[in-house]
Amino acid sequence: MRVPLIAGNWKMNTTVSEAIELVSEMRPLLDQIDDVEKVLYPPFISLAAVGELIRGSSIKLGAQNLYFEEKGAYTGEISPLMLADLCEFAIIGHSERRQYFNETGEIVNKKVQAALKVGLKPILCIGERLDENEAGRTEEIVAEQLRSSLAGVDYPRSLIIAYEPVWAIGTGKAATGKQANETIGFIRRKIAELYSDEIARDMRILYGGSVTVTNATEFMQQPEIDGALVGGASLKASEFVSIVQQTSQIKGRLSEES
Ligand code: PGA
Repeated sequence: MRVPLIAGNWKMNTTVSEAIELVSEMRPLLDQIDDVEKVLYPPFISLAAVGELIRGSSIKLGAQNLYFEEKGAYTGEISPLMLADLCEFAIIGHSERRQYFNETGEIVNKKVQAALKVGLKPILCIGERLDENEAGRTEEIVAEQLRSSLAGVDYPRSLIIAYEPVWAIGTGKAATGKQANETIGFIRRKIAELYSDEIARDMRILYGGSVTVTNATEFMQQPEIDGALVGGASLKASEFVSIVQQTSQIKGRLSEES
């Protein structure tokens, strides 16, 4: 049984005091929901403060990025070792990093390996652009991203994948539940080919891209979708909490039925 996971990617939003305010508002409500894993990804500079505020709760913490070297002369970068001290998860290969910071498959691969080495749980983001989608190349693109990101990774037990079609991120134009379910089913079959049926069956694969309080139910009803990576809607406590509540209700009902 895969435990559903809802991740809140705050991106480059919130000052430290705003982050403290946001997490203080969410904590009591999120802490009551224990059948969904809840992970918050504030900016690096707020990790320590948010970590303090969720200590002793069921809420978990992750970083939005990392560098692949452990330490050294890399001005401005944050290493996996530094993060492993502060948090449990890390987003890797987000399309905004691929697009604006030139992260290639090779860099993403090094980051995945570096995170796993220190025990951080990566959320690996993959997804096609609009032109690729329109050309019917979605499966080809996600298969290639999986292959390059996971090259040489032989034991991806703690890895989580987020399928995030680039055209759906921050645009208000989400995929449909059915589309996302189909592509995530395809990703799961690819994982089975790359690793084993057992690893594919146990791997959590999330959907991300314009998830809101109004469409969360549609995504969570899909059997292949194990949760969501939420951007914009994770910056409002009531919306993020509602998405987690809907996930808890729907996935709870689906598991009773099965
Ligand atoms: P969005 O972002 O929910 O604002 O579309 C999702 C993401 O980038 O992870």
